[in-house]
Amino acid sequence: MEAVAIRPTSTGAERQTRWARKDLLGLEELSVEEIQLILDTAGSFKEVSTRTIKKVPALRGTTIVNLFFEASTRTRTSFELAAKRLSADVLNISSTTSSVVKGETLRDTLANIEAMKTDMVVIRHSAAGAPHFLAARSRSSIVNAGDGMHEHPTQALLDLFTIREKLGGIAGLHDAIIGDIAHSRVARSNIWGLTKFGAHVTICGPATLIPPDIHKMNVRVAPNIGAALEGADVVYVLRIQRERQESKLLPSLREYVRLFGIDKEKLRAAPSSAIVMHPGPINRNIELASDVADGPNSVILEQVTNGVAVRMAVLYLLAGGEVTDETSD
Ligand code: CP
Repeated sequence: MEAVAIRPTSTGAERQTRWARKDLLGLEELSVEEIQLILDTAGSFKEVSTRTIKKVPALRGTTIVNLFFEASTRTRTSFELAAKRLSADVLNISSTTSSVVKGETLRDTLANIEAMKTDMVVIRHSAAGAPHFLAARSRSSIVNAGDGMHEHPTQALLDLFTIREKLGGIAGLHDAIIGDIAHSRVARSNIWGLTKFGAHVTICGPATLIPPDIHKMNVRVAPNIGAALEGADVVYVLRIQRERQESKLLPSLREYVRLFGIDKEKLRAAPSSAIVMHPGPINRNIELASDVADGPNSVILEQVTNGVAVRMAVLYLLAGGEVTDETSD
């Protein structure tokens, strides 16, 4: 496999040039150096998507399976594009069109896929720990594309990449995460990643949607939206999971919009240079007003663009791809 030249943002002995894990399961277990390696490698791959022919031969002969047991637009599509831009072969399997509907177990599904000599499985599942269960029982590399309320590592990696690209670094930044923290795998992965890099994380949302033990993750809980946004370099808005309304964990949507919905007026509490992020899909004019989602502070579509480069880096490194320093001769 051809090595990819990267322009490192870290230096010397601390820099890792080779990935040593079989799987990517979460940001909790990754070191800063491992995350840095993924982000640096993604930086090199980003350019590929700007070419007329958006393809490199890095993963020719590798077969990647996207196994999605929950709905997805961004994650599934960008994993597929990432694999194709690396010249891998891709299979897409969704729960509704697979033999899961006939009662096949997750373990048997994977065993049968692997019997066809595939190399990597990207899985999204509603059960926290499903990717870990498979990783312990398979020879394939397993990539977690979102497991229940646990983690969404590639979302957080593309968020870190975008923050670094837009603001020049992560350490010391103030990041406000707004909304349903309790049910958000995106929030959990972001908090792991941001705090490992030395960012200050403030969370804010309805009291029923703030986990009682969240302080263990080294975050501050703001008493109201104004306090959360004051001094924020990054305003990260989470999707309101409307299904939670039935379990009475949310005030009425109107009440939520009034207290926590990010609109132009509330955003005035943040510095004018703050970037606004959202993992998608957006409930427009609920957690995020359209004029902010489409406004000058928003980097939401840049997050999506960067998702392809980050997922290319993840697939490449898991396949055993090496990186070399552009600066070292
Ligand atoms: N951010 C995210 O996971 O979006 P999808 O559900 O569309 O993949």
